[in-house]
Amino acid sequence: MRVLGIETSCDETGIAIIEDGRRIIASEVASQIDVHAAFGGVVPEIASRQHTECIHQLTDRVIEKAGGRPDVVAATHGPGLMGSLLVGVNFAKALAYTWRVPYVPVHHIEGHIFSVFLAESAPEFPFLALIVSGGHTLLIRCDNPHQYELLGTTRDDAIGECFDKVARLLNLPYPGGPSIQRAAETGDPKAIAFPRAMASSDSLEFSYSGLKTAVLYKLRENGHKTEDVAASFQYAAVDILIRKTRAALEKTGLPALVVAGGVAANKHLRERLAKDIPVPVFVPPFSLCVDNGAMIAAAGHSLYIHGKTGDLSSTARATWPIA
Ligand code: KG4
Ligand code: ZN
Repeated sequence: MRVLGIETSCDETGIAIIEDGRRIIASEVASQIDVHAAFGGVVPEIASRQHTECIHQLTDRVIEKAGGRPDVVAATHGPGLMGSLLVGVNFAKALAYTWRVPYVPVHHIEGHIFSVFLAESAPEFPFLALIVSGGHTLLIRCDNPHQYELLGTTRDDAIGECFDKVARLLNLPYPGGPSIQRAAETGDPKAIAFPRAMASSDSLEFSYSGLKTAVLYKLRENGHKTEDVAASFQYAAVDILIRKTRAALEKTGLPALVVAGGVAANKHLRERLAKDIPVPVFVPPFSLCVDNGAMIAAAGHSLYIHGKTGDLSSTARATWPIA
């Protein structure tokens, strides 16, 4: 069975066709990074216009590469930017209606979780998922497909948002994650001891706004090398993730960890996961960490085989809790 996945929740237009929930047949991602970089972040109105401009062409290309239409259409219904979501949702519903195939609305975070099933080695349920992206920092207990319990989230900024804001403080280009990672390569991660918010507390909640402010105050003292600030910030930001994830694994006894979302592309995070997590860790390949259509198709496939299809009257949701 072939599923078309359509992702337009933020600043990537992702279109893909996958087979049997595991194999990518064709995938195209149009990133808007260059357009938004001039503003230092995503401009919602520009984002939705960009999706409108390329969605048709990308879909044609994917269908041509796959050699035909899919059996099911799936699209991200939320959470995300309303204007951007509506472009993908309405386009996808029109395709499902015209082709007379089932339609599946997908939760963006569920897409990130399912991106791991497109990797060579995939986990079995149950597992703990750590979702780290521009909009989310989540620890989720995943007992069965589509049965989730939110264990912890951020009280303020998401980790990717924190990378983006700190990069701006350091005059590094948008998106902040990759540019901080690059600057950190030649910096000393022990140069500055940044705070670990709520590290000692028993809770699985995160807070990243204090870390961003700590960087701001540090920069007011002159004489710190950008590379050292970047490396020390990255070290602290990742250390919090590792501590909270270990605590969640201890608390739940879950036998495996899935890490997904844009920040899962971070090399330092991947090194710490390999070194400091006591259970098998599953991380999707780099290309599937940032938003893409294949992960939405993978979640859509599973939703479809579990009877969780939608209908054409359902619409986008800017906010949508995972559990
Ligand atoms: O999952 P994603 O593409 O979009 C959302 O759903 O938010 O994640 C984008 C986020 C951005 O904040 C970006 O700075 C961050 O992922 N990111 C990284 C890296 N690559 C992307 N953060 C740290 N290290 C990276 N290598
Ligand atoms: Zn995402």
